[in-house]
Amino acid sequence: MNNLVKEKQEKQKPFTIVSKDALSVLPPESEPDRQEYYMDLCHELIESYIAKKGKTLSFNVTTFGCQMNAHDSEKLIGILEKIGLEEKENEDEADVVIFNTCTVRENANQKLYGHLGSLKKRKESGSLKIIGICGCMMQQPEIVEHIRESYRFVDLVFGTFNFYKLAELLYNRLVGDSMQVIEVLEKPDVNVEQLPEKRKFSFKSGVNIMYGCNNFCTFCIVPYVRGRERSRLPEDILGEVKRLADQGYVEVMLLGQNVNSYGVNYIGDQSKSRILADNPDYNFPDLMNDVCKIEGIKRVRFMTSHPKDLSDKLIDVIAENPKIARHIHLPVQSGSTEILRRMNRRYSKEAYLSLVERIREKLPDVSLTTDIMVGFPGETDQDIEDTIDIIRKSRYDQAFTFIYSIRTGTPAAKMEQTDPDIVNERFNHVLEVVREVSAEVSSRFKGSTKEVLVECENDHMPGFVTGRMDNNLLVHFPGDKSLIGSFVNVYLEEAKGFYYLGKIVD
Ligand code: SAH
Ligand code: SF4
Ligand code: F3S
Repeated sequence: MNNLVKEKQEKQKPFTIVSKDALSVLPPESEPDRQEYYMDLCHELIESYIAKKGKTLSFNVTTFGCQMNAHDSEKLIGILEKIGLEEKENEDEADVVIFNTCTVRENANQKLYGHLGSLKKRKESGSLKIIGICGCMMQQPEIVEHIRESYRFVDLVFGTFNFYKLAELLYNRLVGDSMQVIEVLEKPDVNVEQLPEKRKFSFKSGVNIMYGCNNFCTFCIVPYVRGRERSRLPEDILGEVKRLADQGYVEVMLLGQNVNSYGVNYIGDQSKSRILADNPDYNFPDLMNDVCKIEGIKRVRFMTSHPKDLSDKLIDVIAENPKIARHIHLPVQSGSTEILRRMNRRYSKEAYLSLVERIREKLPDVSLTTDIMVGFPGETDQDIEDTIDIIRKSRYDQAFTFIYSIRTGTPAAKMEQTDPDIVNERFNHVLEVVREVSAEVSSRFKGSTKEVLVECENDHMPGFVTGRMDNNLLVHFPGDKSLIGSFVNVYLEEAKGFYYLGKIVD
């Protein structure tokens, strides 16, 4: 073999030192055994590399997007640690870099391309060995095609339905012949839950209760990239929460794109569920009640609630249960009934406001937060006035405000779009109102004492820690890291808009 060809072939293998004997045992067909097998093989490869080169290999996972993506990343990190890689906080120092992408707005896509551009040189120099991209953005065929053509230095591309296969895909890249391993499924095949995961915090965790979304809001890409709604069996969820409690976790957040429609379509063998046999109408409020009964769990959160499905039963369950956080994220999107209709949100301005009223009646100290979109096709000045009106009437503690972004393949992409300059102007106006309302509303607890869960040391204020109240507001106060993970009572001295300054009291 001439040297050039040899060199080229070695360049194709980022760090392979492989015994082909490993391949003499066929991989198991069923999961999770198959992934255990590939994790062992990857582990062997990495161990032999470390032994030969005398240095360790590291990884970094960058996550874009929502809590569900963040939770998926905990699973990716679990796999990468299991195969023997060390986590690095900084992507510039890692040998293996994975991006778990979001595509809910165009700027989420741009973020990925920005990172890839800056990593190209490192990849070419050999100091970065593997780049993997997964998540929602990869569920779009035209994007995968673009990566295939224009980002040939990316090693792995996989999607939301097969991210659990990271070790298998990595192994194929390391020992196989192709420079780029791409595997994206159109819809979920098997649900693999038993793989390692490394939770970011040791005291609070997200727990998936369902995957996907059936709502097809006309602006939104999520149903296309996450598939149809699938709920986990109650026993699986409660079992996971119980295990977390046994490990010392005190807070769980139940996660789904629309938690209020939990139970529409189950994954797994429904006939094995005694809970469902006893109560075929088991729903989200029932699940919340059962989660609250688990000893050791002191705070329960949930995200996200679609206003059309938030039932009075859920409000009652929250009111009766002190463990459930007094915080509801209730994305309104727009205050105009006509825009809401065209968004396919299936509630009117009046229905939303009446829901807010019912919530506030039973939960007077609740914090409401929301998502608002400005610039949906055909929006008028009057529609914006309605949005401002609903912000003032709902009195949100916090509102996440977004400029509408065209998502290819969604119905709204085909509607007539509004001039971006007009949209920007309206957006700034809405943002002003949001800031004014939330500064006023979120400071209403000043002078009171609240129980907070201490989450971290404060990066900007040495000697301070940051805690979260059950209404989701943050407070910074003097303390040290020994407090992390515990509940303390904090007097709220000063309101600073999105957060408070305070001090611990007995
Ligand atoms: N399932 C949640 C929302 C998930 S996406 C719900 O229904 O409330 C989070 C937020 O991103 C949405 O609430 C919406 O405000 C925003 N969003 C979604 N698609 C968008 C788009 N095409 N352009 C701008 N913002 C968008
Ligand atoms: Fe998107 Fe609507 Fe589903 Fe939320 S409910 S994820 S906005 S389609
Ligand atoms: Fe983004 Fe996917 Fe979540 S598109 S918002 S990461 S479900």
